[in-house]
Formats: sequence, C-alpha cells, structure tokens
Amino acid sequence: MFSHNYSEDVKSITSKPFKGSIPVTLVDNRKLDHWKNKLDRKQQSWVNVNTFEGNIGEVLIFSTDEGGIDHIVAGKGSSDFSPWLFSKIAETLPEGTYHFEENLSEHEANFAAFGWAMADYKYDHYLKDKNPKSVILIVNDNCNLARVSSWVRGTILARDLVNTPTCDMGPDELAIVSKQLAQQFKAKIEITIGKDLLIKGYNTIHTVGRAAEKEPRLIDMKWGNEKAPKITLVGKGVCFDTGGLDIKPSGAMITMKKDMGGAAHVLGLGQMIMESGLDIRLRILIPAVENNIAGNAFRPGDIIKSYKGTTIEIGNTDAEGRLVLCDALALASEEDPDLIIDFATLTGAARVALGTEVSPYFTNNPTLSAELLKLSENEYDPLWPLPLYLPYEKLLNSTLADINNVGSTGFGGAITAALFLKSFVNKNIPWVHLDVYAWNASASAGKPQGGEAMGIRTVFEYLVKKYTK
Ligand code: BES
Ligand code: MN
Ligand code: ZN
Repeated sequence: MFSHNYSEDVKSITSKPFKGSIPVTLVDNRKLDHWKNKLDRKQQSWVNVNTFEGNIGEVLIFSTDEGGIDHIVAGKGSSDFSPWLFSKIAETLPEGTYHFEENLSEHEANFAAFGWAMADYKYDHYLKDKNPKSVILIVNDNCNLARVSSWVRGTILARDLVNTPTCDMGPDELAIVSKQLAQQFKAKIEITIGKDLLIKGYNTIHTVGRAAEKEPRLIDMKWGNEKAPKITLVGKGVCFDTGGLDIKPSGAMITMKKDMGGAAHVLGLGQMIMESGLDIRLRILIPAVENNIAGNAFRPGDIIKSYKGTTIEIGNTDAEGRLVLCDALALASEEDPDLIIDFATLTGAARVALGTEVSPYFTNNPTLSAELLKLSENEYDPLWPLPLYLPYEKLLNSTLADINNVGSTGFGGAITAALFLKSFVNKNIPWVHLDVYAWNASASAGKPQGGEAMGIRTVFEYLVKKYTK
C-alpha cells in the first residue's frame, strides 16, 4: 500500500542550531589559486596531495589537531549557482551535520537547501535494505525553511506517486491518495466511479478506462475560500497506458506506470498550495483510468460523445490522455474559473521537440506565458513555450465526427494534442497546458532515475506571488 506523510518535517534540512555542526566552504575552480594562497603551508600541501581542484563533486576534509573534522571544502566547479550542486555535495559528504560559511542570498540559501534535501530522495519502498544516510544541513538564517520544505514535500509526493508501480497505484489507489490529501487539509472530495461516469456524461473517461479491472473514475477535490479566485488544476491520471488496441511496443510500454504523472503533479502542487494556505479556491480534477485491453475495450474508428457534447472519432486508442482530459477540462470550464492549469504526460512528440528535461507549455494568455518563462528560470525548473498554432487545427478534422483524437500527421504532435485540449476549454478562461515527461531518463545528483516533478515549483511560485494573503 502507498504511504505518505503529508506534513512530516523534511529531516535533512533544519534551522535548529547545533554546536558540533561542521562548516563547509565552497571553492570555485577558477579561483583555486587565489583561495590556496590564503591557506598556510600545511593546508596548501594537504590540498595538493589530495589533488583538490575545486571541481563539482570534490570534497576535502580538514582535520583538527585532535583528528576530528575541523571544516570541509567543497568544489563548486565553474558553473553558475544551481541547487543540484548542493545535491552533489550532500551526496558526497559523510554522515554528519553541516552548515555553509558563505553569505548566500535568500534565493541561494533556499535553493541550496532544496538541492541538499533532494539528495536524500530514494524510492526504496520495495527494497529490503534501505540504507538511509543522515547528512543534515543547518540552513542559513535567511533561508525560508517553510517554503523550501513545501517544495520538497510536493516534489517527493509527485515522485513517489509516479514511481509506485501500477499494481499498487491503480485508479482506486490514486483516489485513496487524493482522499487522504483532502482529509489532511479539510478539502471536499467527490469521486464518480464506473457507470456513474456515464450517468453524468463523462463518456470519454469511461470509454478509455472501461476495459480495465479497476474501474475508471473522476476525482474532484475542492479546497479554500469559496469567494477567493478560483484556480483549477487538472491532471492526467492514466495509471497505466498499454496503448489500448493500438498497443504500444514493449520498449515504449515499459515506463507507462508514469502515465498518471500529471495527476501526481497536481497532487504534489495541491499539497504545496494547501499547506501554504494560499488565498484561492483550489479545485483538483483527476480523471483516473487504466488504458488497458479486454473484449470491451474501445476501438479505433469508434465515435464517442464527450461531456461537452462534441463527438470524437477515435483515430488511435493510444491518444487516450487527451480523451480523459477533455471531459475534465469541459467540466472545469463550467464554473468559469480564473485559471485552469493542466499537467499531462501527453505526447512523445514533446520529447522529440525539447528532450526529456525541458517541459513545453501552451497557453492562451501571453502575459501568463511570459511570467511562467521568467519564473521557470528563476526556479531551476525548465519550461519552454510552444505555440497553439491555429492552422494545425485542420489536422484534427474528421469526416464522421466533430473532431478526431489524433492528427492526420505525426508532425507537430505536441501542438495538435494541445489544440485538441484547447477545443474543450472555454476560450475566455486563462489556461495553461504542460506536457511533462514526469521522469528522469538517467540519474544525476538529486535526481535519481525515475519519477520527477516538472513545472510545479514554477506554477507554485506564480500562485504564491499572485495569491498570498
Ligand atoms: N502517454 C503517452 C505519451 C508519452 C509517451 C509520454 C512516452 C511520455 C513518454 C500518450 O498517451 C501517447 O501514447 N501518445 C501518443 C499519441 C499518438 C498516438 C498520437 C504518442 O505520443 O505517441
Ligand atoms: Mn497513449
Ligand atoms: Zn498516455
């Protein structure tokens, strides 16, 4: 069973002073000589015999005359400030409690603490030997520990949800996790399951999920002040994507437990928002399904009437994400919210365009677009805008239905997917769609291979700036 403590302190970072804490000094490899010149002869020789050059990942321990640790220097290479440098340092250091000697700006102190804490993340739920390592940072005085802890908790929740295999994270478990989160923050939650989806008209959600053993469902959570600005988050919750009858080859299917990554993102982001008490009325919508195969699976060529009333011809059962999202987006639009943001592991084409680390976003609001781009750089959370290029709408034309669920060509696949979604959002509502990979393809410091949260810090900081009481 999935377990997560939604309000637990982040153990690896603290603001409590500790007498025996070891000072860490950062050394830039371009300023190595300048730094070395200030050391005494004995220390200089210690640096030389250890061939310490100030590169990223190098740490050098200076001991006291009694043989204990006096202080540590850590290389920071020649690159710009990055939270992942601090992940690397935390990963390299032996167990202990540390603090940084440098004057870090508030921004740097926050991201140093964030990177440090992320080094402690390991998805070890199914391992017999968990081998935790206790490397604790006493954060600088100007660090906003509450804010950083919120980033960490939200990121960990998203990663854990993605990493949990589908056998333990089906539509039912995703709903249980949402209920736990709702309970923690006194949010209201309504879950529509199986045939009830058809009664309410959420036909696309039912259609995609009906062949799976675990029934499809729509999770609808509401939190906050009813009179505050309404922000709605929508997350693709495809707990496993076989591709349906247009079945995926094994190489493409192997990671598809992560196809509920959008749902994981909105739950992680939702947790950050609720624990920070932002002055908004938050709504989280998650269509939770498994795109699986059985005798009652939907087929290529089928035509479905969506919740909005639009009929959709199924060109490909593997383009299921946009199908489950379209009913959720149409429902979201009904109450005319101030902003709708959806997260989805929607297309392989987004990866072809920008690779695995940069997430494309699409929005109908140019001001919002510029703000997100600027924030994303500041938050070390790479996003890049792609266009809702209207002439490509014709690629979704169908002769039998109002729209086809896939483009007539694979070119511009991330754009045609976004345009499909756009047709279900009321055009007066500011809307952002993030096509996230939700996954680290390979491991690097603070970012083990597997589930990853992308774009949630950027969106969170946008909301904090705009909606703090
Ligand atoms: N979940 C996939 C997209 C995906 C694949 C995201 C790999 C990240 C990594 C989605 O449901 C899908 O299968 N999309 C198809 C759409 C196509 C059939 C138009 C794709 O991108 O190939
Ligand atoms: Mn698919
Ligand atoms: Zn999918």
